[in-house]
Amino acid sequence: MGRKITDTITWVGKTDWELKKFHGDEFTTVNGSSYNSYLIKDEKTVLIDTAWLPYDKEFVSKLKQDIDLTKIDAIIALHGEVDHSGALIELMREIPQVPIYCTANGVKSIKGQYHKDWNFKVVKTGDTLNLGEKTLTFIEAPMLHWPDTMFAYLDKENVLFSSDGFGQHLASEYLYADEVEQDILYKEALKYYANILAPFGIMVDKKIKEILSMNLQIDMICPSHGLTWRKEPTQIVEKYLEWANKYQEEQITIIYDTMWNDTRKMAEAIAKGIQEKDEKVTIKLMNTAKDDKTDVLTEVFKSKMILVGSPTVNNGYLHSIAGILEMIKGMKLKGKKAVAFGSYGWSGEAVKLITEELRKSGFEIVNDGIRCMWTPDSDAEKELIEFGKSLV
Ligand code: FEO
Repeated sequence: MGRKITDTITWVGKTDWELKKFHGDEFTTVNGSSYNSYLIKDEKTVLIDTAWLPYDKEFVSKLKQDIDLTKIDAIIALHGEVDHSGALIELMREIPQVPIYCTANGVKSIKGQYHKDWNFKVVKTGDTLNLGEKTLTFIEAPMLHWPDTMFAYLDKENVLFSSDGFGQHLASEYLYADEVEQDILYKEALKYYANILAPFGIMVDKKIKEILSMNLQIDMICPSHGLTWRKEPTQIVEKYLEWANKYQEEQITIIYDTMWNDTRKMAEAIAKGIQEKDEKVTIKLMNTAKDDKTDVLTEVFKSKMILVGSPTVNNGYLHSIAGILEMIKGMKLKGKKAVAFGSYGWSGEAVKLITEELRKSGFEIVNDGIRCMWTPDSDAEKELIEFGKSLV
């Protein structure tokens, strides 16, 4: 059976405790996740979203415990990605004529994945669906985080269904954000934002301001993943506004890869210099070949400055650094500083190449970086410490 949220709304989603990777191997979900789906029963009954494909049969069979499927009047697809649309094939097999309300881009994404000509009803911002006593209003939210994304607002209950926005990859026995450990909740919410929504900060800011200008009473925010925001639901909206506006903390993150520990020694000496000069700044060292890339991106997102280091190999840099630079470029971060470093034995191009990549990714380059030939000796270590001090 589903879990009652209000007299009208029942959560009928799937909690996925086992999920450890998302988007292929791109996103680490150490705390699992949930695919939130909601059944709204008024004079009409509508279903908002479904669940990820591997759980399609389980989703539909459990849904039948809450509703005779033939009583569903409409399906709302806020977003076509497979983690929310994956059970549609199984569901539509039973109720093929039921209309699916989504954006024009939603039709493209759902048709593009499932190649089915279902009864799509295209909606735009401001369009409504009268359910009887209550009404759903649709709000397009393109690029939060796909072009097809939309939100839906249920009046009288004052609930905003926000798709991936405000969500977290966090499996829980609880339904509400105020019931779980707040540090884990916010860690996962920030990780989600940094890894999925960071490139779209301008759109996030604009969309939130648009919704605020609509003067909607919002008593609850139901995202597609994780916990529902019930107590002071705008707390996460305020956080999103912060995160969307050149967010940074007093943190410097030093990311590096190393072959024979020379670049690692450089990283540690630079960190020592930074710390000696400014005790208050948080310094994090992360080896891109060993640390989780989702966590690396989250720390980069939080930082006011990043240092990126690699030894020179075959006139370039190590592949884990290439990978993380590509991911960082995709984040389209603004207002952050960067500098490169690395050891070398002969040609030594890595620092210059990394610097160029960081510049292309929108970072303010502090200086030309620092190189060290072979293993840093005590003089080189002193120079690296001074270099660290010069950065703060
Ligand atoms: Fe949770 Fe973009 O799907």
